Amino acid sequence: MGKELGLNIEDALDLAARSLSATRYCHTLGVAALAEDVAQRHGLDPAKARFAALVHDLAKEIPIEYQLRLARRWQILNYPEDEQAPAVLHGPLAAYWLKHYYGLKDQEVLAAVAHHTLGYPGMSPLEMLIYSADLLEPNRKFPHVDSLRQALYDNIEQGTLACVEHTLNYLNESKRLIHPLTRLTHEDLQRRLKFGA
Ligand SMILES: [Fe+2]
Ligand SMILES: [Fe+2]
Repeated sequence: MGKELGLNIEDALDLAARSLSATRYCHTLGVAALAEDVAQRHGLDPAKARFAALVHDLAKEIPIEYQLRLARRWQILNYPEDEQAPAVLHGPLAAYWLKHYYGLKDQEVLAAVAHHTLGYPGMSPLEMLIYSADLLEPNRKFPHVDSLRQALYDNIEQGTLACVEHTLNYLNESKRLIHPLTRLTHEDLQRRLKFGA
């Protein structure tokens, strides 16, 4: 995969190394390794999966107040919940930034970056892969992480549904806000798995 993305894989690695703290960079490399490996297993493009993973958290460490200002300026606020829980904004912000400032054109990669925080109804295999690998990369330690990872290796849709359900349980138990997009993603994946569409 070369310059057709506007950035090559070395540029993506370099951007991640320069934009992220050591811990977040390590997380990013973990997401890249898992996404690449699962992509290979399922006959998806492993280089594209690695690339999307390397850039998924590029906006994560921008101070939250500045993230909100950028989101308003770039008109990417779509729900009241976006402002109530602005930690979700770094996905759409990174996608906007990569598209408009780095000329990244690949719509599938842009969508995977944008939707990794909340999910999205109708996600492509690459979007599901980045969403799930973000939760399941090798540095993540929580009960049942191994079985969720295995579910992703077995079936991307089923594994992603399990990740969304894990997240919904966590949000419910900790009484945190549930964004409408996560609910819609859950319903969409349930429907797809039931009816195959
Ligand atoms: Fe993230
Ligand atoms: Fe992440």
